[in-house]
Amino acid sequence: MDFSFSEEQEMIIGGARRFAEKELAPVVEELDQKGESNVKALRDLGKLGYMGMTIPVEYGGSDVGAVAYAGSMLELSKEDAGTSVAVSVHNSLANESVLKFGTESQKKKYLQKLAKGEWIGCFSLSEADAGSDPGSLRLLAEPDGDGFVLNGTKNFTTSGGFAEVIIVFAQTDKKKASRGISAFILKNDTSGFTIGKHENKMGIRTASCTELVFNDCHLPAEALLGQENKGLKIALTVLDGGRMGIAAQAIGIAEAAYEEALRYSKDRIQFKKPISGFQAIRFMLADMATEIEVARTMLYRVAWMKESGQKKLTKEAAMLKLYASEMAHRVCHQALQIHGGYGYMKDYKVERLYRDQRITEIYEGTSQIQKYVISREIID
Ligand code: CAA
Repeated sequence: MDFSFSEEQEMIIGGARRFAEKELAPVVEELDQKGESNVKALRDLGKLGYMGMTIPVEYGGSDVGAVAYAGSMLELSKEDAGTSVAVSVHNSLANESVLKFGTESQKKKYLQKLAKGEWIGCFSLSEADAGSDPGSLRLLAEPDGDGFVLNGTKNFTTSGGFAEVIIVFAQTDKKKASRGISAFILKNDTSGFTIGKHENKMGIRTASCTELVFNDCHLPAEALLGQENKGLKIALTVLDGGRMGIAAQAIGIAEAAYEEALRYSKDRIQFKKPISGFQAIRFMLADMATEIEVARTMLYRVAWMKESGQKKLTKEAAMLKLYASEMAHRVCHQALQIHGGYGYMKDYKVERLYRDQRITEIYEGTSQIQKYVISREIID
C-alpha cells in the first residue's frame, strides 16, 4: 500500500496551495466582511485547470483525478472556504452531472466552458420546504410544446448569484413524488429565470447563496438532463462525490484552525511561559492533530476509491463527510479556546474559521442525513 502522492499530484496540490496563499488569503477577510464572492479567483482557477479536474481532456478538462482534486480542495479551503465551496459545487455537482448524465451534445455544449471556468456551474436542488427531503420539492416543470415550462423558486443555491450554468431539479410528475423529479440544465440568460434573495450568512460569506426564481421559464426538450423522472437519482449520485469535496473543505478549515492555534500557543505568554507548555493546551493540540490525521487518511482513501473506478461510494462518502465535518467542529472549537478572548475577535483568523466550519455539518446533507445513509447501507 502506497500512501504517497505522485509527482503530478504533488504539483497540482502544491499549485492550489500557492494560489490560495497568493490570491485568496490577501483578500478573504475584506470579502468576508462585505459578504462578496471572489469570482475573479474562480475564473483564474479555471485557467489553471482547477475547474475541470475530473473532466476528460477531450471535453476541455484537466482530468487530474479525484486524489489531486481532494488535495486541492483541502488547500483552497485553508484560506477561503467560501471560494472553495464554489469550486466543489462546480466540479463535483455541476460538471459531474453533465459528464455522467448529459447527452453528447450537452457535454460538447457545456463542458468545454465549465472546465475552463469561463462558465461557473451551480446545482439547485433545495427549496424552502425541501432541504433534507429533496423528494418533496415543488418547482414545477410542465410539458410545453416540445419542451417544458418551469414555475417556482429554489433556495440556498451556492454560486447562484453569478453562475452561468444552472442544474435545476423540478417536479415533472407530481403524482410520483420523489420518483417524478427531473433534472434540467440551462444558462442564466434564459428568459423567465431571475436571481432572487441573496442570503446573508453566518460563515462562508465569500460564497454566493441565493434563491433562483423561475417564472414561466420555457426550456427546450434538450434541456432535460438524463431521463425524465430520474432526477433524484442524478442528484443523489453526484452528491456522493460532492460529500467528498465538502469533507476536504472541512479538513482544510480544521488544518488552518489547528495551525493558527499551534502558532498562537507558542507565542502567547501566560503565567510567565508560552501556553504551549501547559499540559491542558498540549493535550488539546495532540487531539486536534490526531483527528485531522484520521480524517485526511479517510479523505484520500475515498478519493482513491473514486479514482480507481469504484462505482458506488455512498457509504464511504457519507462516513467521511460525517466524520470530517464533526471533527472540524471539535478542532475549531478547541482552536478558538486556545486563543481565549482573542479568538472571539475578528482580528484573528480563527474567528472566521469557526464560523466557516459550521456549514460543513449542514450542506450536502446534515450529519443526521449521513447517519441515515450509513445505517441504511450497513443494516438494510
Ligand atoms: N447513488 C445513486 N443512486 C442513489 C443514491 C446514491 N447515493 N441514493 C439513492 N439513490 C437512488 C435510489 O436507488 C432511488 O432510485 P430509483 O428511483 O431508481 O429506485 C432514488 O435514488 C431515490 O432514492 P431514495 O428512495 O433512497 O431517496 P429518499 O427519498 O429515501 O432519500 C436521502 C434519501 C438520503 C434522505 C436523500 O434524500 C438525501 O441525501 N437527502 C439530503 C439532500 C442533500 O444532500 N441536499 C443538499 C442540497 S445540495 C447542496 O447543498 C449543494 C450546495 O449548494 C452546497
